[in-house]
Amino acid sequence: MVSASNTSETHKIVLGIESSCDETAVALVTEDRRILAQRIASQEEEHAPYGGVVPEIAARAHAQRLAPMLADVMDDAGLTLDDVDAIAATAGPGLIGGVMVGLVSGKAIAMAADKPLLAINHLEGHALSPRLADEELKFPYLLLLVSGGHCQILSVEGVGEYRRLGTTIDDALGEAFDKTAKILGLGYPGGPAVEKLAREGDPKAVPLPRPLKGSAEPHFSFAGLKSAVLRAVESGEHQAADIAASFQQAAVDCLIDRLEKSLRETGPMPSLVVAGGVAANMTIRAALEALAEKHDMRFVAPPLALCTDNAAMIAWAGCERLPLNENAPLDFKARPRWPLDPEADAVRGAGVKA
Ligand code: KG4
Ligand code: ZN
Repeated sequence: MVSASNTSETHKIVLGIESSCDETAVALVTEDRRILAQRIASQEEEHAPYGGVVPEIAARAHAQRLAPMLADVMDDAGLTLDDVDAIAATAGPGLIGGVMVGLVSGKAIAMAADKPLLAINHLEGHALSPRLADEELKFPYLLLLVSGGHCQILSVEGVGEYRRLGTTIDDALGEAFDKTAKILGLGYPGGPAVEKLAREGDPKAVPLPRPLKGSAEPHFSFAGLKSAVLRAVESGEHQAADIAASFQQAAVDCLIDRLEKSLRETGPMPSLVVAGGVAANMTIRAALEALAEKHDMRFVAPPLALCTDNAAMIAWAGCERLPLNENAPLDFKARPRWPLDPEADAVRGAGVKA
């Protein structure tokens, strides 16, 4: 690849649009890994009164915010659509109303500016985003994607080449943190609150299950763990901090066991990468780092702003896809479900997560 310092070289610019959940986001990213401008608007306030994301409210908020944000991002970068080489829009999986807002906007811009449209799988955005932050990160790598909506282990083997090793059969890990926080009366989003309280507790104090630990396939299940937390609270026998610490330890044990199992399936891998909002958790990070060291792997944790939902990752996936010349037709359909690995077996209850 040509070095960024070679100023005579022009690098392609991709405009990315993300609207699959409750973040409206727009970004301009170059092939040589520069984020020229980006904006993100969270809808936390809109959804807070309902205790979760309401799809209709999300779609309306995306529709209201996206066009002004696009104008702002172009302004911030001092560019016009003429300077952009392609439009990359998330086309799924996600809440269909929101996905449609972003995808249709992308189509309209692509048509009006006569630029190619790239229909991006949101999960591919997550899977490739670590390479935006880290030029040294080469294929293949083992990716743990853990957020409020996703919980997967993937072998990322190339652009468009993903092997899904594990997924959750019920809740995502971030969801389990959020539900545990709710049971403990800690508010939303629960992950950071549970982590904070866990620092004051004993991770061995409360006996909690490790669902699916040791099972043949490296899948996850967190619904039973959450129910066990509820029973521990209702028993009145434990301190909240001990419950938080024990829950977090159970989650860590499941992650490590499932990743070990995945490595037995893939054979040695050069790097272990973590992405998604749960990657903010320091206890989880430390455990992953130790696992990577044990297996002689590089441990890569991209900056959190790239781990959580954003449009830079969508624009970057577009940059990675440019050489493939696979432009989407203007009638490309939004996909509420779109597994990254079409060969992966359907797992009971897991379709809703990916
Ligand atoms: O990637 P993200 O911002 O949004 C999506 O889910 O798409 O992830 C948010 C999730 C929430 O469930 C939140 O509770 C969890 O990540 N989270 C954490 C921590 N910070 C955020 N979970 C555990 N420990 C944390 N420190
Ligand atoms: Zn996401």
